[in-house]
Amino acid sequence: MSARIYLSSPDVTDREEQALVAALRSGWVAPLGPDVDGFEAELAAYTGREHAVALSSGTGALHLALLGVGVQPGSVVLTSTMTFAATANAITYTGATPVFVDSDESGNLDPGLLEQALTDQLAAGAQVSAVLPVDLIGKVADHAAIAAVAARHGVPHVVDAAESLGAVRDGRPAGADGVVSIVSFNGNKIMTTSGGGALLCDDPEFAQRVRYLATQARQPEVHYEHTEIGFNYRMSNLLAAMGRVQLARLPAMLERRRGWRRRYRDLFADVAGVSVFGGEDGVGDPTARTRDNFWLTSLVIDAEQAGWSADDLRRCLAERDIEARPLWKPMHLQPVFAAAPAYVNGTSERFFRTGLSLPSGSALSDEQFDLVEQTIRQFLKERS
Ligand SMILES: Cc1ncc(COP(=O)(O)O)c(C=O)c1O
Repeated sequence: MSARIYLSSPDVTDREEQALVAALRSGWVAPLGPDVDGFEAELAAYTGREHAVALSSGTGALHLALLGVGVQPGSVVLTSTMTFAATANAITYTGATPVFVDSDESGNLDPGLLEQALTDQLAAGAQVSAVLPVDLIGKVADHAAIAAVAARHGVPHVVDAAESLGAVRDGRPAGADGVVSIVSFNGNKIMTTSGGGALLCDDPEFAQRVRYLATQARQPEVHYEHTEIGFNYRMSNLLAAMGRVQLARLPAMLERRRGWRRRYRDLFADVAGVSVFGGEDGVGDPTARTRDNFWLTSLVIDAEQAGWSADDLRRCLAERDIEARPLWKPMHLQPVFAAAPAYVNGTSERFFRTGLSLPSGSALSDEQFDLVEQTIRQFLKERS
């Protein structure tokens, strides 16, 4: 591996290696097996769900979650504009159209604006088949408020918790909200199976249907009978073996990221015009009933007040081979979704302009973090 310092690189140890080798030697080299079953049970327990279905990606999990709640071609799905493209891509896979809704000051979907958007879409005659909020950068959205809006209009609430596994809000774990939710185990996430995801739900029939759709919709016939289009979305038993170790290590990995958050908070505490993105995060109290998983620590920089911009700091870090990135470019600004309806209030565009995510991974060594800190200190000194 290069000396480059990434935002969030995979954190793997000998334990993952041993688990992978053991799974390989067990003969379960398939998208099924005892590690898939074990991983699903452990994930369900961790997120407070009845069922987890391990899949090949978070995007695939989103696709099946939307199909599972009955999203149809020609309908619309209301979703956060402040997200990664995978959320909106999965909506388009179903033949539905995404309708983007802006954020509140936490960066997550604004429930008041959602109410307006939903009312407006229904009045215009749209068939609204789901509401799909995203837990942005490690923070659980206000799902109680969002669920109330969705329920008032009789629309299913599906949660994209790809970035929030390990976080809690009012004591509820990320992934516990919605009729169905999904998490991701991509290489850059809080824990990884190199690639993978899972769907979480409480209804056994929902879970069973997702397993069926994820294995090519095979009818229980010896000759492979098919009555519907299916998908090849199951997780390999080898990767599930790795996932079990990562899940067991998750509290420690989260703790390490929390430590970086504390240091960034201290570093920028007295810097005018700079705040840590996302507000209340429970950084000082690991038992707080609402807390981040600290997946990424991001700054919000008011360039006028600070005298420098998010891009100035990004360029300075890049010179030392340290990765930093803007917050997600809102989906309503993406050329590919230019035709999709959007309800905007300026918040996501402001965060995109002023936000910067900094190296936050649990695999960062103390020396690497020290280098990031020193580089930032030097930058601040030069700019003050
Ligand atoms: C908000 C969000 N949704 C969905 C995904 C898709 O997950 P995956 O990469 O596992 O397909 C990601 C991350 O990649 C994400 O950040």
